[in-house]
Amino acid sequence: MSVCAIILAAGKGERFGQKKTHLLLGQKPVWRHSFDAFLSHPEVDRVGVVFSPEDVVTIPEAAFVVAGGASRQESAKAGLNAVGEDNDIVLFHDGARPWVSHEVISRVVQGCREHGAAAAAIPVTDTIRQGNVLLNRNELSAMQTPQGGRRTDFIRAYASTEENFTDDVAILAIIGVTAQLVEGDPKNVKITNPSDLPQLPELRTGFGYDIHPFAKDDRPLYLGGVHFENHPGLDGHSDADVLLHAVVDALLGAVGLGDIGVHFPNTDIQWKQARSTTFLEFAAKSISDLGWRILNIDATLVAETPKVMARAAEIRHTIAQCCKVEPDRINLKATTNERLGSIGRGEGIAAMAVASISRQ
Ligand code: CTP
Ligand code: MG
Repeated sequence: MSVCAIILAAGKGERFGQKKTHLLLGQKPVWRHSFDAFLSHPEVDRVGVVFSPEDVVTIPEAAFVVAGGASRQESAKAGLNAVGEDNDIVLFHDGARPWVSHEVISRVVQGCREHGAAAAAIPVTDTIRQGNVLLNRNELSAMQTPQGGRRTDFIRAYASTEENFTDDVAILAIIGVTAQLVEGDPKNVKITNPSDLPQLPELRTGFGYDIHPFAKDDRPLYLGGVHFENHPGLDGHSDADVLLHAVVDALLGAVGLGDIGVHFPNTDIQWKQARSTTFLEFAAKSISDLGWRILNIDATLVAETPKVMARAAEIRHTIAQCCKVEPDRINLKATTNERLGSIGRGEGIAAMAVASISRQ
């Protein structure tokens, strides 16, 4: 038995606010997703499309492209009339359902073969009321597409009524054909309102820079939260961890919370000698409290000494732990300043960082 699928994409999308089937979803228009799903299905032989008259164009892979009508049923009828006589089974599918799977298509094709007509449906999960009457949820089904049956049955049914249906197999009841309901898929959503489209996450980026001179007195050196023994330390109010300060500033910058000095002023005695991991934990918590998630942090340390890359894994781990993310979201790079300028003369260490965050 030869199968022809019809993609209905001639609607105006009034509830959506524009012609939703022509919107780009990823790399291609909404209608093209289901068109490709049917075209690549081993049991579907041909796929035709119904567009609004002004959108009709030639599509090389399509069996036909025809103009639809003012109602969905008129569009379905226009598609039906374009199906070749050698196609025994016709499947109607909403072009506004781009996430249809091969499994659902297979179940409807099998239902058509075995019962003469079939439609995808899913159980209703919400309680439904009609006026004051609560309907029995267990007896209700939410109808999806594809819906299909024999081409000759559809032609007979369409010829015998002017009544309007939004359901394709419902019309077959007029000629006494009852469709089998097969398992649809909750993911096979019909895009009706803008909220039916996946929302793109909001993305932000922050940048941080810091520089500290080496201390004259005997202080420990901390870089990225890690202690470097037997190396002169950096001067500063806190532990002077220049790398973490750049990372904290990048995070605060991304979320719009100023810089490290706003939150931990170097005039405040409580931050004297403080470990900068505390500052980083604060910045990471502020980000998650505001509903954001850290995507990645990339930092560069500029120093003639020490050799930090030997301990890069430890540093990435420490930063990741403070931020409560996986270490593969943290990247560390190091460079010397080629003996140029103050850093090149070994007078201090600088660091830069960028951080990306996202919110759904
Ligand atoms: N459809 C069609 N021809 C019409 C009306 C609808 O081909 N005259 C198609 C739509 O393009 C859609 C599917 O039928 O793929 C389901 O219809 P619906 O969700 O109601 O889409 P629209 O009619 O475009 O939307 P609205 O009712 O909000 O205007
Ligand atoms: Mg409509």
